[in-house]
Amino acid sequence: MDQFLTADDLAKSLRADVREGLTGTPKTLPPKWFYDERGSGLFEEITRLEEYYPTRREREILLARAPEIAAATGARTLLELGAGSGEKTRVLLDALGATLEAYVPVDVSGDFLADAAGQIAADHPGLAVRAVVADYEQHLHLLPSGERRLVAFLGGTIGNMAPAARVGFLGGLRATMGPGDALLLGADLVKAPERLVRAYDDGSGVTAEFNRNVLHVINRELDADFDVASFEHLAVWNAAEEWIEMRLRSTRAQTVRVGGLELEIDFAEGEETRTEISAKFRRERLEAELGAAGLDLAELWTDEAGDFSLTLATPRP
Ligand code: AVJ
Repeated sequence: MDQFLTADDLAKSLRADVREGLTGTPKTLPPKWFYDERGSGLFEEITRLEEYYPTRREREILLARAPEIAAATGARTLLELGAGSGEKTRVLLDALGATLEAYVPVDVSGDFLADAAGQIAADHPGLAVRAVVADYEQHLHLLPSGERRLVAFLGGTIGNMAPAARVGFLGGLRATMGPGDALLLGADLVKAPERLVRAYDDGSGVTAEFNRNVLHVINRELDADFDVASFEHLAVWNAAEEWIEMRLRSTRAQTVRVGGLELEIDFAEGEETRTEISAKFRRERLEAELGAAGLDLAELWTDEAGDFSLTLATPRP
C-alpha cells in the first residue's frame, strides 16, 4: 500500500476544515468527514434504501455497458478514486478482465482500503492490486503512471464538489492523462425535486443519522461537546445551482465547545450549517465541464429510467 496521506495529515485537515467552517458565515462542514467507520456503514445502509436510487442505477448502467467500456478502453490499469467498499468495482473488474493487469484503489482512509484491496486480490489471482492512500483533490500527480489507464470516479461523488472545484479537479486529472487513458465518471442527473429530496431525506432517518454523524466525528476527534440530538437534518433542493444541500439545523440557541481547537461556537436557534452539496447534472453541463478541462465526452450512458449517468471521456489530443 502506498501512502501519500498520513493520519497526521488527515488530523490537520480536519482541524483546518472545522475551524474555517464553523467560524465562517454561514457555517459549513465538508462532507468528507462523514465517513468514519460508523459513517461508512450508514452510507452503505443508504445505498440499500428504496428512496436512494443512485447506487442501484449506476450498477445497472455498469452491468449493461461493461463490455463496451472494456472494448473502448482496453484498460490495463483500473484506477478507482474514492474506492470505498468496492462493490461496483467487481462489475468493472470482471468486464475488463481480458486486458487488465493492475487495480489501484485510491481512498483517504487506509483502514477500509487495505481490507477491500486484500479481498479483491484474493478473488483475482494474477491481478496486481496496489492500494493508494491519497486525497484525489491533492495527489493526482502521484498516482501510478502507465499505459491505458482507466480512471473511475463513480457514485456521483463529483457532485460533492462546487463547480470551481470540479473544474480544478478535472483539469488536474486531465494533466495526468496520456493519449490511451480514459475517465469513467458517474454523475447523478437533474430530476423532479421531490424525488431528489426524498433520496436525501429518507423515511427511516438513515440519512439524518449519516448527516449528524459528522458531529460525532468532531466530538471524538476534536474533543467537542456537540449535543448531537439538538441538530436536525434537512435536505433542500437548490434550483438555481441544481444541487441538493444537506444541512444541520440547531433546534435551540447553544454554545458548543471544540476543545481541540480552543473554540467556542455559538449557534442561534434555527441556525443551519451546510454539510454537503450533491450536484445533479445535465448532459450539456457534463460535456462543458469536461471540455473546459480538456476532456472529450466519448459516451454518456444512462439507466433505463434516465436517473443516473455514466460518462466515458478521453483526453483531447
Ligand atoms: C457518496 C457523495 C455520492 O452525494 O449522493 C448520500 C453521499 N449524501 N446521501 C451523494 C450521500 C447523502 C453521496 N455520495
